[in-house]
Amino acid sequence: MCRIFNVKIPELSNPSVCMRDPHRVQEILQSMVKAGSNTVQVISDFDMTLTRFAYNGKRCPTCHNILDNSKLISNDCKEELKKLLNTYYPIEIDSSRSIEDKLPLMVEWWTKAHEILVQQEIRKDLLAIVVRESDAMLREGYQLLFDHLYEHSIPLLIFSAGIGDILEEVIRQAGVFHPNVKVFSNYMDFDETGVLRAFKGELIHIYNKREGALLNTGHFQELRTRPNVLLLGDSLGDLTMIGFLNDKVEERKQSYLDSYDIVLVKDETLEVPNALLLYLT
Ligand code: C5P
Ligand code: MG
Repeated sequence: MCRIFNVKIPELSNPSVCMRDPHRVQEILQSMVKAGSNTVQVISDFDMTLTRFAYNGKRCPTCHNILDNSKLISNDCKEELKKLLNTYYPIEIDSSRSIEDKLPLMVEWWTKAHEILVQQEIRKDLLAIVVRESDAMLREGYQLLFDHLYEHSIPLLIFSAGIGDILEEVIRQAGVFHPNVKVFSNYMDFDETGVLRAFKGELIHIYNKREGALLNTGHFQELRTRPNVLLLGDSLGDLTMIGFLNDKVEERKQSYLDSYDIVLVKDETLEVPNALLLYLT
C-alpha cells in the first residue's frame, strides 16, 4: 500500500489511502491553499460516495434501491428490479469491459428500471416516509463536510445518476441541505395529483456526467472564479480527484490509481475529504 507522511494532513497516512503520485497530490494541495478557499468548489457523486457502501457487513441502498425495496413497489416489480440489479450491477463494476462496451448496457438498466418505477404510480407525498424507513446512510463525517462547506461559503454540487427527489430527501432528513448545495440528477415528473408519470429531461447515468455538465454550463459559468475543484466519486465515470474504491477492490485498484489522485480503499468515512478541506480553508 502506498502511503505518504504529510505533517499537515496526517489523515493522508490512513491505511485506506492510496496514491499513484503522492508528490503531485502534495503540489496540487499546496497550490490550492495558495489560491485560497474562495477559489475552491466541491463536486461530488452521491450514491456510494456521500452515502455508505456497507454498514455492519450489509450493503447500503442507492437512491434507486431505497425505492426498489420500499412498500411503494409491488412484489412482482420488486422481483423484476432485483433481476435488473443482479444483471447490470456486475457489468457496472466489471473492470475487464470498456466504458464504450458498458455504456449502452447502463442506459438499458436505467431505462428499464425507470419504466418499472413509473408503472407503480408512486406518490410524491410518500417519498419522505420511504426515505425515513430505509437503511440509507450518509458516510461518517457527513455533518462536518456539509456544515464546513456551508460555513466557508464553498459551493457543493452533488452530481448524481441516482434520483434527485430521493437524494434531496436523504440530505434534508439528515439536516444538511444547506443553501450552498446544488443538485444535478434524475428528477421525477409528477402529475397534478402528485403521481409519478415520467422522469424529467435527459437521463443521467454513470457514464454521461460530462455531457450532463455541459447541459448545465450556466452553473459552472457562475462558478468560474472557483477553478479548484475537489471532486469525489466512486465510479470511473465520476473522475478525477478522490475516488472511493468500494467493491472489486483488487481487480479495479490499478485503474482507480491511474484515474483518481487519491483512492480510498474500503473507507466508509469522509475523514480524508474533511481533512483536505480543513487544510484548504
Ligand atoms: O449517485 P450515483 O451517480 O453514484 O448513482 C448511480 C448508482 O446507482 C450506480 O452506481 C448504480 O449502481 C446505482 N443504480 C441502482 N439502480 C438502478 C440504476 C442505478 O442502484 N436502477
Ligand atoms: Mg456513485
